[in-house]
Amino acid sequence: MKLRGYSGCELEITEIGGRKCVRKIAADLSYNERLKEQKIKQVKLSIPGFRTCNVLDDGYIDGHYYFTMEYINGKTLAEEMELMELSELEDVIKCFTDVFCSYRTYDKSAGQIFENKLIEIETKINERCRGQLDESISSAIRLLREYSWDYVINSPCHGDMTMENILIQRGRLYLIDFLDSFYDSWMIDAAKLLQDAEYMWSYREKERSSNLCVRMTVFRDLLTEAILDMPEGKCILDTVYHIVLMNFLRIIPYANGSFDQRYITDTIKLIMTKIIKEELT
Ligand SMILES: Nc1ncnc2c1ncn2[C@@H]1O[C@H](COP(=O)(O)OP(=O)(O)OP(=O)(O)O)[C@@H](O)[C@H]1O
Ligand SMILES: [Mg+2]
Repeated sequence: MKLRGYSGCELEITEIGGRKCVRKIAADLSYNERLKEQKIKQVKLSIPGFRTCNVLDDGYIDGHYYFTMEYINGKTLAEEMELMELSELEDVIKCFTDVFCSYRTYDKSAGQIFENKLIEIETKINERCRGQLDESISSAIRLLREYSWDYVINSPCHGDMTMENILIQRGRLYLIDFLDSFYDSWMIDAAKLLQDAEYMWSYREKERSSNLCVRMTVFRDLLTEAILDMPEGKCILDTVYHIVLMNFLRIIPYANGSFDQRYITDTIKLIMTKIIKEELT
């Protein structure tokens, strides 16, 4: 049986020693290194409150790298968001906020890393758009280039914390599909979650039930309230929304078609309004 993801990697359910497990195989040879890095991060990284699937073996099939991990008999958080009881959702969100809000020390060297990343993003956007930039995109780049990243906190980071990359089994949260991040911070993970919880990026082409919208709003509210409760919470949340803005700029060079381009531009306008008018609370 095959599972489906977005990377083009093959995921198949198999068995090792009578135990059900999942084998993830690189889509093509150029993906080998990336998948190897993913496996290393999955084995090494520990984020309190979250579990990871044990890696049982790894190797090559016809030159394609693979690793095999334990199978989690559950659903993704993305699937659960449709129907989960609100009380259960509160417990799930507490897992995130307990760990996120426990890291509080600002990293003075983060600013330079964010500035360098922004230069890279701007170069890629200019290459793709060849001078035909929407005014809101240019203003977003300016806003981010002028921002002083004084409230960035260094901490363990998943790197691609979408709701598709979290599995729930008997109330326990398992992280899968780790990714190297240009910087390690829970704020990067929180921004990724808000990209869906508030701006519905992964749901942009799907029908959104009212159940889903209610749960996404609760998710957004409880996450942002917990951040605001931290000392200097407003500055920290402001930084998280600047990272959300940065995430949408990062997608521009890869956006296909006018629907996605329009969605990104509209969302960038919304985030800018929120940041500029300080509508974080
Ligand atoms: N260990 C596991 N146990 C149960 N289901 C799994 C497991 N690993 C992956 N899955 C299922 O397969 C889906 C895709 O897996 P994964 O996120 O690793 O691949 P991907 O999305 O293709 O990768 P990428 O995000 O790198 O593009 C998951 O959303 C989940 O439904
Ligand atoms: Mg995935």
